[in-house]
Amino acid sequence: DQRARTGTLPHRSQVDTALDEAYRRALSHHEGTVADYIPVLGAADPEAFGLCIADVSGDVHEVGDTRTAFSIQSISKAFVYALVCEGIGHREVRELVGVDNTGLPFNSVMAIELAGGHPRNPMVNAGAIATTALMPGATPERKWQLVIEGLSRFAGRQLELDDEVYRSESDTNDRNRAIARLLYSYGRMRADPVETVDVYTKQCSLLVDARDLAVMGATLADGGVNPLTGDQVVSPEVSRDTLAVLASAGLYEHSGEWLYEIGLPGKSGVAGGLVTVAPGKGGLGAWAPPLDGAGNSVRGQIATAHLSRTLGLNIF
Ligand code: DON
Repeated sequence: DQRARTGTLPHRSQVDTALDEAYRRALSHHEGTVADYIPVLGAADPEAFGLCIADVSGDVHEVGDTRTAFSIQSISKAFVYALVCEGIGHREVRELVGVDNTGLPFNSVMAIELAGGHPRNPMVNAGAIATTALMPGATPERKWQLVIEGLSRFAGRQLELDDEVYRSESDTNDRNRAIARLLYSYGRMRADPVETVDVYTKQCSLLVDARDLAVMGATLADGGVNPLTGDQVVSPEVSRDTLAVLASAGLYEHSGEWLYEIGLPGKSGVAGGLVTVAPGKGGLGAWAPPLDGAGNSVRGQIATAHLSRTLGLNIF
């Protein structure tokens, strides 16, 4: 309804009720498969499920496995993008990385070729690797330090690398290296392609939980201010730019369906994480490993759809 759309979240008790309902509704779905192209991710518990809402005043509501850590994976792309926009500015990032959906899978090489070597948007692997190359910092070590510091500020706590995930992905990510070299061959990478993929792989291996994702989302919802720490992590303009890209490309080739059903910017990761942002209101963090064909958490999407409907969050 219109009132809910422009105001804050409903009363605490209503949010708790909606969260429980969303959780139970999603639990009855058993579709999807756990990603295993990064070998260690194949060992994830398909029944793990956590759901959390953090509002912009710092109120946190949670149900299920919200304190179990998993690798952030592609959700890191949204926050690294915000840090890069903050570092080098709206126009340059727009030109170098783009903001349009590819309509193709997140690791598509064809998408790069069809765009004449342009990565198209920062949420697919090509654009995310090109974005990581634009992180401030003259060396890969410095870039990584700024990534981990920046993402920790979004979460409001010090994040850590999962070494096992990092090693498992590093041993098997020839495709991302190929994507980076292809971009480099087109003059679209401003740093060494192999070193950049290494920083990108580390950023994807950062450990978070569903509660962290909700807080990170709430930070973007409130113009870049972390609701727990009060830290202004990025500017309101950068938050707005980031949310626009999430709306158009956050769920890859399913971004249109997602926006149609849920009406909010969101970002998924292959470990089953999903962050959704209700601008001005708060962030939703979900974690459930089984994924749909585009690489998005099945239960996460079902639960988020329920919350968007019952709490009146759809921005349209
Ligand atoms: O680069 C990759 O393939 C992974 N580190 C991240 C991909 C991902 O999370 C796609 N998401 N749904």
